[in-house]
Amino acid sequence: MPNDACLVCTACRQTFPLDQPRWKCDCGGLLDIRFAPAFGPSDVQGQKPTMWRYRQAIPLADGADIVSFDEGFTPLLEVDFGGKTALIKQDHLFPSGSYKDRGASVIISQARAMGVKAVVEDSSGNAGCAIAAYCARARIACSIFVPADTAAAKLAQIQHYGSSLHRIPGSREDTASAVLTAAQTTYYASHSWNPFFFHGTKTFAYEVCEQLGWKAPDAVILPVGNGTLLLGVAIGFDELLQAGIVSRIPRLIAVQAKNCAPLAEAFRGGLNDPAELPTQPTLGEGIAIARPVRGRQILQAVRRSGGAFLTVGEEEIVQSLRQMCSMGHYIEPTSAATTAGLAQYLRQCGGGEVVVSTFTGHGLKTTEKMLKLL
Ligand SMILES: Cc1ncc(COP(=O)(O)O)c(C=O)c1O
Ligand SMILES: [Zn+2]
Repeated sequence: MPNDACLVCTACRQTFPLDQPRWKCDCGGLLDIRFAPAFGPSDVQGQKPTMWRYRQAIPLADGADIVSFDEGFTPLLEVDFGGKTALIKQDHLFPSGSYKDRGASVIISQARAMGVKAVVEDSSGNAGCAIAAYCARARIACSIFVPADTAAAKLAQIQHYGSSLHRIPGSREDTASAVLTAAQTTYYASHSWNPFFFHGTKTFAYEVCEQLGWKAPDAVILPVGNGTLLLGVAIGFDELLQAGIVSRIPRLIAVQAKNCAPLAEAFRGGLNDPAELPTQPTLGEGIAIARPVRGRQILQAVRRSGGAFLTVGEEEIVQSLRQMCSMGHYIEPTSAATTAGLAQYLRQCGGGEVVVSTFTGHGLKTTEKMLKLL
């Protein structure tokens, strides 16, 4: 890894060594990782078909002991949407059942490399499952904070991995506040604050690029709550562009639920920060984030790519879920919000565009909701 890589504050520009177990700046600002990977397509030759084939692009110290289940390099499957097709990453097939394993593998590898013995994390469910799984693999103690009404299968999964579970009454924001007290004394493996997470989710971009013959697609349609996949994908394509591997970045099309759309609203109004809006519950529990901490970065990334925001109603989510399942794709309702947005996008786009999207979470994670929808 280049030895000038460091953590950098997005507010005051202060820098910190990468191996300092911190998740925000002393000024309260968000941290990014300053890092220019030395990666080229020839590096993947002979490597296993996992996300770790891009090891040279991941900012972990040389010789770090990776925490992995040989995850990633998920199939990029062609799916038909009424005559138009999209290529869909099968990220619901990750070991813990969602794409969050990309981020968890990197963040927990970094935690182990720093000698961290215990972590805390807050989540609407899937990030908690992923962090708990990788902590089990790394033998790191783990406490997960979730909203009290999180899907039962996710609660079971977190506890079976051996993590301690804290169910917090109230909103997703109440859960985020509750974890901050714990984060004062224990390493915060936060998927929204901790920048290592995004250097895991960026492998989505590397994989898509390789699967398309080292080319960028025209558009990538992604869900956005805290934007951990979207921001990772933006980092990944930026790096591939800087390295001269692709000649342009794809348009990033962000999907939010109409019932909770602070970023779509900000985008529409030309604002730089998430709009403060009343929100309603949505079937897309994973994207129900009223105050995304990296909202400003998400808006910048979408604008810079020439992309847009789309919003989807509850009925559209249900319809898309039914359609996907009827075609053999068993995904959770949050993932159907993305496919509903994808269907909207395909209806309005010209033919011949290479459009990539994702199934982010497995349907088996939300059995109660799936039963109610029968
Ligand atoms: C299945 C699923 N899809 C999408 C998302 C949205 O991810 P993000 O909040 O990082 O934008 C989540 C987040 O929990 C999720 O669980
Ligand atoms: Zn700062």
